[in-house]
Amino acid sequence: EKDVLILAIESSCDETAAAVVRNGREVLSNVISSQIDLHTLYGGVVPEIASRKHIERINQVIQEALKESNTTFADIDAIGVTYGPGLVGALLVGVAEAKALAFALNKPLVGVHHIEGHIAANFIEHKELEPPFFSLVVSGGHTHLVKVKDYGSYEIIGKTRDDAAGEAFDKVARAIGLGYPGGPKIDKVAKTGNPHAIQFPRAKVENAPYDFSFSGVKSAVLNYINQQQMKQEEILVPDVAASFQKAVVDVLVEHALRGAKDFHMDSIAVAGGVASNSLLRDEMKRACEEAGMKLYYPSPVYCTDNAAMIGVAAYYEYINGRRSGWDLNAVPNLRL
Ligand code: KG4
Ligand code: ZN
Repeated sequence: EKDVLILAIESSCDETAAAVVRNGREVLSNVISSQIDLHTLYGGVVPEIASRKHIERINQVIQEALKESNTTFADIDAIGVTYGPGLVGALLVGVAEAKALAFALNKPLVGVHHIEGHIAANFIEHKELEPPFFSLVVSGGHTHLVKVKDYGSYEIIGKTRDDAAGEAFDKVARAIGLGYPGGPKIDKVAKTGNPHAIQFPRAKVENAPYDFSFSGVKSAVLNYINQQQMKQEEILVPDVAASFQKAVVDVLVEHALRGAKDFHMDSIAVAGGVASNSLLRDEMKRACEEAGMKLYYPSPVYCTDNAAMIGVAAYYEYINGRRSGWDLNAVPNLRL
């Protein structure tokens, strides 16, 4: 059988990324040009700046992905690209680039859903993982419980009603002076704090056992900080970080395990930027061992935004015969 090589492009937020993936599971190159330093100056992603930086960097990133994988455009079977959800201007850069390449090279074009990419990141290092399985997708923009029925076939079991898990990490980090991006910073400082120091709420959504709500815990942290300041009492940043992180992780773990059991799944794959959180990994491991559930998560580099995961998802779309037309457009609120 002939190898299938996908050149994948990802530009939905603040990473300009390109990758070459062989036969859906083997990453030949994975180039990520992060803009984090730029956006840190503003305390979050500035969409206009993100779009402009993607334009500046995308051709170089693609060239590097080809070079690192020892391939040329001629070797590529199809071009995969994230077309949503994400920042519209940022997405458009990748989509326009992919369309231009596919048209000029006369190769098939495959549009990929960003969340499908995050889930597919688990296929890279876990060759035995195949659908059906349950997935907890936790990123800066999304918190989803997903039943992965087959390659390219998903059922959303639950989602957040307000903030995404990563968004809550970022907002709380800003409030306690840790800066952007907040997730990794809270993860690190929480290691020196007491997770039981402050009781933050574990919110449930009435009549929706699989849905999430994180705006409550975020507000509780902000209130706590205000109260401490008014009382002129010290704010112990490691304790706040650890207690907040524990509150979020408790809910994620409980929902993921309950969902997987209720839907008769025997494995859970965690995905998205927050999947690299060390407490979430530890607690998921403990809970899954206890429940006899198999647990999968990607290495940190495949948790946060990258193009390798888009290449994996594009491969399965491609071999299932799915193609995008020249009218492919960026869809900022694309549904799974
Ligand atoms: O998947 P991703 O790179 O982008 C989106 O699709 O949103 O996720 C980024 C999010 C950010 O909110 C970031 O703070 C969070 O993932 N994150 C973490 C950690 N690393 C990244 N959150 C908690 N703990 C971490 N170690
Ligand atoms: Zn993402």
